[in-house]
Amino acid sequence: MRVVQVTRAKGPLELVERPIPEPGAGSVRLKVEACGICHSDSVTKEGIWPGIQYPRVPGHEIAGIVDAVGSGVAGWTTGQRAGVGWHGGHCGSCDSCRRGDFVTCQVAPQVPGVTYDGGYADYAVVPAAALALIPDGLSAVEAAPLMCAGITTFNSLRNSGARAGDIVAVLGVGGLGHLGVQFAAKMGFKTVAIARGGDKASLARKLGAQHYIDSQATDAAAELVKLGGARVILATVTSSKAMAAVVGGLGVNGKLVIVGASSEPLEVPVLPLIFGRRSIVGWPSGTSIDSQDTLAFSVLTGVRPMTEVFPLERADEAYERMLSGKARFRAVLTTG
Ligand SMILES: NC(=O)c1ccc[n+]([C@@H]2O[C@H](COP(=O)([O-])OP(=O)(O)OC[C@H]3O[C@@H](n4cnc5c(N)ncnc54)[C@H](OP(=O)(O)O)[C@@H]3O)[C@@H](O)[C@H]2O)c1
Ligand SMILES: [Zn+2]
Repeated sequence: MRVVQVTRAKGPLELVERPIPEPGAGSVRLKVEACGICHSDSVTKEGIWPGIQYPRVPGHEIAGIVDAVGSGVAGWTTGQRAGVGWHGGHCGSCDSCRRGDFVTCQVAPQVPGVTYDGGYADYAVVPAAALALIPDGLSAVEAAPLMCAGITTFNSLRNSGARAGDIVAVLGVGGLGHLGVQFAAKMGFKTVAIARGGDKASLARKLGAQHYIDSQATDAAAELVKLGGARVILATVTSSKAMAAVVGGLGVNGKLVIVGASSEPLEVPVLPLIFGRRSIVGWPSGTSIDSQDTLAFSVLTGVRPMTEVFPLERADEAYERMLSGKARFRAVLTTG
């Protein structure tokens, strides 16, 4: 089979041939049809993940077909359409797992493309517990970005405490953000998109945003206050400074929900948090059943990722397109 691998931190993406792997106990082999390129793939490409073992095949937005089933796997058969996202397995016995909170497994959290080989490949072997069933209404190219960008924004928004009619702002209109805007609009929130520059304004409106704020031309926090103050700001950007700059736009009881990853500290004034009962929380994607909920909601409401499709051999070009912020809005690799 063909895989695209990284052999060292900051090394190139290389196309190589490998034997097709066999699924062990509790795992299945997926024939990969499509794999989205998430900004978090940079943890593998740039060597940010502690203790990462190379060579490693990136990719955790996988959509494909169950192709072989390992021993002890119940409920999955060959030919089923399935996907896997960032949450790619858990230990099952730590305190978090015993509470059923698999996403915060502290002992052996598994991530395709990071702790084991992922979806920039013709085949991938993944734990059955991490699989989500893909409904007929979605193509593989549509389903793949929903496995990470989709579930992360859908699941964080539905657990944010915002209710229909509340002002919800989505900070950053990239792979995650463009799905976040659609989910927020379909959930019935008064949806505000915030991004740098004016070029994304019309697209953001098409995705369902009632308002667009250009964070380079205006003070986004002041603009949110003019609208009444946000109940939730979903931060999908990669910059802590950009997140800090909008905190002043939270209304009373407002919440900054952080999904975008940054290695820089977040510096915000404390008093408005106290006197307005405002809060700042993080959110990590979700489990396989949260993914199935994301796929089902997308079929129900018509949410779809906007994609740019590249064949597996052009993974390098597709990754650069994501990194440069030029992709509108998710680069997706296909094996067909
Ligand atoms: N919590 C989770 O479970 C989870 C899941 C998936 C991804 N992530 C993280 O979420 C982030 C977004 O991922 P993605 O795949 O959507 O990435 P992406 O498609 O590359 O989009 C990046 C976004 O970051 C913004 N951005 C980049 N540089 C910026 C800067 N200097 N100042 C302000 N904004 C900047 C862009 O804003 P504009 O729209 O203004 O250009 C864009 O919206 C990444 O950090 C990724 O690692 C987290
Ligand atoms: Zn991701």
